[in-house]
Amino acid sequence: MIRIGIILGSTRPGRRGEQVARWVQERAGLRSDAEFELIDLLDHPLPHLDELPGEYRHAHTRSWAATIAPFDGFVVVTPEYNHSAPAVLKNALDFLRAEWRDKAIGFVSYGGVGGARAVEQLRLMCGALEMADVASQVSLSLVTEFEDFAVLKPGEYNVTALDKTLDQVVAWSTALAPLRGTADDTGIREHIGKVIEAIKAKDLDGLRQLYSDDVVSFDIDPPLQHAGIDAKLKNWANAFVFFDDVTYEVRDLTVTMDGSVAFVHCFGRLSGMKDGAPMGGMWVRATFCFRKIDGSWLITHDQVSVPLDIASGAGVTDLEP
Ligand SMILES: Cc1cc2nc3c(=O)[nH]c(=O)nc-3n(C[C@H](O)[C@H](O)[C@H](O)COP(=O)(O)O)c2cc1C
Repeated sequence: MIRIGIILGSTRPGRRGEQVARWVQERAGLRSDAEFELIDLLDHPLPHLDELPGEYRHAHTRSWAATIAPFDGFVVVTPEYNHSAPAVLKNALDFLRAEWRDKAIGFVSYGGVGGARAVEQLRLMCGALEMADVASQVSLSLVTEFEDFAVLKPGEYNVTALDKTLDQVVAWSTALAPLRGTADDTGIREHIGKVIEAIKAKDLDGLRQLYSDDVVSFDIDPPLQHAGIDAKLKNWANAFVFFDDVTYEVRDLTVTMDGSVAFVHCFGRLSGMKDGAPMGGMWVRATFCFRKIDGSWLITHDQVSVPLDIASGAGVTDLEP
């Protein structure tokens, strides 16, 4: 199912934007051709841009990227401030690149004279972000669509305009799906990054979030398979006992994906320190298989191995990528 994020682009105390976003969300909720979710910028406080898009050094960038990545398209609810869009909205857009690319975007604006000028500027910006902006839009004047400039009472023509905007966003989000491989690839790479972070922190609860409940793991140690998330976590817990400090290195990571299925192959090495001495670990071949479940990527199968020396029957553990 196509997922559309409704981005509430105003964070001002006393903002009118919340009413507008709720109206969009309620109207969108009547549809069965897509899922809609509110993304309130108040819930995603970002500093002024503090790294290049794509670097993802900071936790706030990673968190914002992880919020935006699963969506196929967006409806932006924006006021007009000084003939333009709010700085907080532009900043949030500037932070990311791949997560916006090849996704549709529609606009619902409001303001003293409807907010159309803010939308014109956002359209230019979305072009630079390689987004597809749909033609239909909603412009709500504070004078005619808000009672006493305060309470949203949209006219019937604006309900029609909203439906048409949603139609176009859903249609284009669907049509652009084949182009979105690269953006989703970022989500998969970030997912592997989260696995690494959770291993380093020996965070079993964090790891639990990254696998499906029914994961089947062909891990390097017996038995033949570790079926289910509890077995997988038990295996991680066993591995953590060998290290006081642990790290996981990944090399030559390759992602292949199509729609809601993806697989990754790479070389990996678990290593660390035990009783003050380094434990070098060994390089293994690793494969992670992903499925998109309820809009989120999860590892449903993994396989870890070393080559076998057929003559001796022993695993070869001293190879390096
Ligand atoms: C700093 C500022 C600048 C504004 N500039 C414009 C403007 O250029 N054109 C306009 O139609 N309305 C303008 N307005 C009116 C806003 O669009 C209106 O107050 C709207 O409710 C603001 O959105 P918010 O309540 O979600 O913050 C401005 C309001 C503010 C606070």
